[in-house]
Amino acid sequence: MKLAHVIHDFFQHCSHRRASYRTFSLPLLLLALLAAPAANSAVMPQDSTHQSLGVVNCASSMCHGAISPWKDSHILHNEYSTWLRLDKHAEAYNVLLGDDSKRIARKLGLAKPASQEKICLDCHAHNPAPEKRGERFSLSDGVSCEGCHGPAEQWIKTHTKATATHASNLRDGLYPTDRPVEVAKLCLSCHLGNEKKLVTHRLMGAGHPRLAFDLDTFSAIQPPHYRIDKDWQERKGDYDGVRLWAIGQAMAVRTQLATLADPVQGRDGLFPELVVFDCHACHHPMSDKKWQPRQGTGPGHIRLNDSNLLMLRNIVRVVNPARAAALSAQIQRLHKSIAGETGMQGSDPLAEARKLSAMVDEQIVFFEKRHFSGADLHAILRQLIDEGLANGYTDYAGAEQAFMAIASVANYLQKTGDPGVARDINLRLAAMRKTLSNDEHYQPAQFKAELQKLRLVIAGSAARAQ
Ligand code: HEC
Ligand code: HEC
Ligand code: HEC
Ligand code: HEC
Repeated sequence: MKLAHVIHDFFQHCSHRRASYRTFSLPLLLLALLAAPAANSAVMPQDSTHQSLGVVNCASSMCHGAISPWKDSHILHNEYSTWLRLDKHAEAYNVLLGDDSKRIARKLGLAKPASQEKICLDCHAHNPAPEKRGERFSLSDGVSCEGCHGPAEQWIKTHTKATATHASNLRDGLYPTDRPVEVAKLCLSCHLGNEKKLVTHRLMGAGHPRLAFDLDTFSAIQPPHYRIDKDWQERKGDYDGVRLWAIGQAMAVRTQLATLADPVQGRDGLFPELVVFDCHACHHPMSDKKWQPRQGTGPGHIRLNDSNLLMLRNIVRVVNPARAAALSAQIQRLHKSIAGETGMQGSDPLAEARKLSAMVDEQIVFFEKRHFSGADLHAILRQLIDEGLANGYTDYAGAEQAFMAIASVANYLQKTGDPGVARDINLRLAAMRKTLSNDEHYQPAQFKAELQKLRLVIAGSAARAQ
């Protein structure tokens, strides 16, 4: 992934993303509780039984196609313009017409061009069943409004009425993109995969780019076509960006473990589906000789891609310390079981994965009720750094996640009134980014040296603040 570009955009856009951190009145709190995720989760836009009508229905200048944001309105009204001009989702279908996609389709031996194959369209467009497409629906809209907000058949007419509420829109089939678990599930369905679609190692072998996703970073660079302010929170409930990030990490782990444990998706012939493992465990020159012990496993094994697990473990250490040791132990059991380490013979990796997944679910429920404070942010940042100083980021994927996480945390520190620390961190991030510019030549020692410098900077600003 083009990380340099990602982070460049990330910092360009972060100033637009001011969430307000106020104390809440009782009615607001009640509203937030009512908006809490329902036990039965929402139907994915693609699987809905409602008709999809097409972007053209949203694009009028009086609706969502204004040139610039309106003042004194709940919403910005220029959502369509932002999506069309700045959001890569509008281009997602066109990508399938390009040379890279032609090459991928040819190597996979697909019968039709990529732009007509379900396997590609399921992620590069909003792709409901043909009988669920309205007259003006077009696949070439790519990942359209309805691809995230759900088919509009039932809410297109009612959602603009004065009597419409967020709850009534949801009842009419609007997808709950405001709820952390649901939005994470939505984004991850394409940015990692789910039980129905997946960028497999075969797709990557044919040339599909490697996927890396961080809910907070990717929400910032999309860029957002919405403003999360007091008005948004009054309509949709309490917003906590760090909670959203934490839930995104946990949901990614959950998805990865589900893929691993799926008897169909998790296998590719004799081998497990390689996409849940660390790519560079296999893809590096034999002359590197850079193996180091980690997670209690010996040399010469494939390793699970544990980048999201590393983030989750550090979040849990800070906000739910009572469960941290058990979670870490189970993560290690899974690693050891996959590697068939001494003492683990006879242990079933899939059973270990399912056990870990249940623990992750428990954390998601915990996060949903937890407010993440400024003190939590500082502690999570320290944890993320210490993980690296203890050689936690020997794999590129882990370092990449840690980098996006540290950037997100710095962003929130800035917003919660700690601009001194954030500025210092931002300066170091530029240097740190350089050590990640090429995944194939990643040197863990260089990344670790940058973490060391970052820790000194943070200690320095903390001392100055006293
Ligand atoms: C599970 C979802 C999923 C499936 C299936 C999938 N893709 Fe993708 N694809 C993505 C995502 C997400 C990205 C963007 C990755 C990023 O930038 O982080 C992407 C990126 C790409 C890119 C690079 C785009 C660019 O802007 O450079 C190409 C080319 C591509 N996909 C082609 C295909 C083709 C061809 C198929 C079918 C054989 C396919 N994809 C199937 C999710 C998917
Ligand atoms: C990749 C997913 C995605 C796509 C595509 C997308 N949105 Fe959104 N949209 C979101 C998310 C996430 C939010 C923020 C959470 C929320 O308010 O529900 C949001 C919020 C909104 C809001 C509500 C803002 C508020 O203050 O309540 C509107 C209106 C909106 N989008 C319109 C559109 C339109 C119109 C399009 C197509 C031109 C579109 N969206 C495409 C994900 C998406
Ligand atoms: C239906 C599938 C789908 C869903 C749902 C989806 N995406 Fe995407 N996303 C894609 C594809 C495909 C691309 C690549 C498009 C391209 O390269 O032109 C992409 C690209 C992006 C990019 C650009 C990445 C880059 O390399 O510059 C961002 C950021 C992003 N998505 C964020 C999100 C977020 C945040 C959500 C959830 C609110 C989300 N996406 C939901 C399919 C999806
Ligand atoms: C268990 C080892 C293993 C893991 C883990 C693994 N791969 Fe592979 N990869 C292979 C093998 C084996 C091939 C086939 C090599 C060949 O055909 O010469 C391959 C081929 C490829 C190719 C095609 C290279 C070419 O010469 O055209 C790409 C690209 C690729 N893998 C990407 C990835 C990505 C991205 C990941 C992580 C998500 C990954 N691999 C994880 C073993 C692995």
